[in-house]
Amino acid sequence: MKLKLNNESLAQLQKEIDDALVGARTTEDVDAVRVQYLGRKNGVLTEALKSLKDLGLEEKKVFGPLLNDLKNRIEEQLTRAEHALDVDQSAARDLTLPGIVPETGHLHPMTLVQHELMDIFRSMGFMIVEGPELDQEFYNFESLNIPKTHPARDIQDTFFIKTPITRKEKRDLPKTGWVMRTHTSNMQVRIMEEYGAPLRCVVPARVFRNESTDASHEHTFYQFECFVVDEKINIGNLLWTIQEIFRQLYKKDVKVRLRPGYFPFTEPSFEPDMSCVFCDGVGCRVCKYTGWVEMGGSGMIHPNVFKAAGFPEGKYTGFAFGMGMSRLAMLKYGLPDVRLFMDSDLRILKQF
Ligand code: PHE
Repeated sequence: MKLKLNNESLAQLQKEIDDALVGARTTEDVDAVRVQYLGRKNGVLTEALKSLKDLGLEEKKVFGPLLNDLKNRIEEQLTRAEHALDVDQSAARDLTLPGIVPETGHLHPMTLVQHELMDIFRSMGFMIVEGPELDQEFYNFESLNIPKTHPARDIQDTFFIKTPITRKEKRDLPKTGWVMRTHTSNMQVRIMEEYGAPLRCVVPARVFRNESTDASHEHTFYQFECFVVDEKINIGNLLWTIQEIFRQLYKKDVKVRLRPGYFPFTEPSFEPDMSCVFCDGVGCRVCKYTGWVEMGGSGMIHPNVFKAAGFPEGKYTGFAFGMGMSRLAMLKYGLPDVRLFMDSDLRILKQF
């Protein structure tokens, strides 16, 4: 359509566009109006603008600005119409559609294993105790039959802390002899002192070793300690307890064997192995084709430990075992590398 340039035709054009936009229901409708009037090819207004060049100077002076104004106004109108439709359409969203679920956090696999383990222990009548991460050397070493000069202190690389106590209200505490606990065994004598015997308790906790990290070493990691004290506790009780805990945690019958070992605070000492939960003892990569997985330390509580706790000599016996929680979790979830637990890679963590 060719526009005849005069005041009426321009007014008419404006009216047409107004009407077309009132009728526009979707952004496509608005687009169609844009193409019809402002389209590069054959747009009514575009053509009119092109035809300006054929006009005489006087007419150009009159219609040039008029057409440009009109074009700007129409462009603005189109933009406004589009925007209004956008808002309109979002208001008209289907409210019955399921919402976008916000991402929430969840428990870390190590926490899950710890919770499950503690549930098992609780069901067997154990009390769960926590204790200080920063402890006196006495509880971490001396009370466990590891005197100052004992070479066993070198087994566990220790963070010795110089003067940890700065708060006023704690000034009466010893100024020296503090360590970051190297194992959860630091709770044995504390708990014996506090609760006396008989005892059945478990301590899940964070422990610290002064060593550089590699595939199988972390300077900070999780252990749990289990110990039982009563008048007639024997090695059979130790073996059964470890086996039962594993059976419930891995939901299958596992075998446990006790290899002789050495810990200053147990006598005799054993290193418990569990039949591999992946290959049932046949041999696979996880158990390095031995059929067995090493699971920590254990033994019968040394008489010197009872002595440190002030228990009457010869009255009680007891067993203790301690294990790394990440090993338990790795076997539970089939993860190949401990470090995967400590990284924050969500591709791993989201799977639990
Ligand atoms: N505390 C020992 C360790 O961390 C493990 C252990 C616990 C050994 C209880 C015997 C008895 O290596």
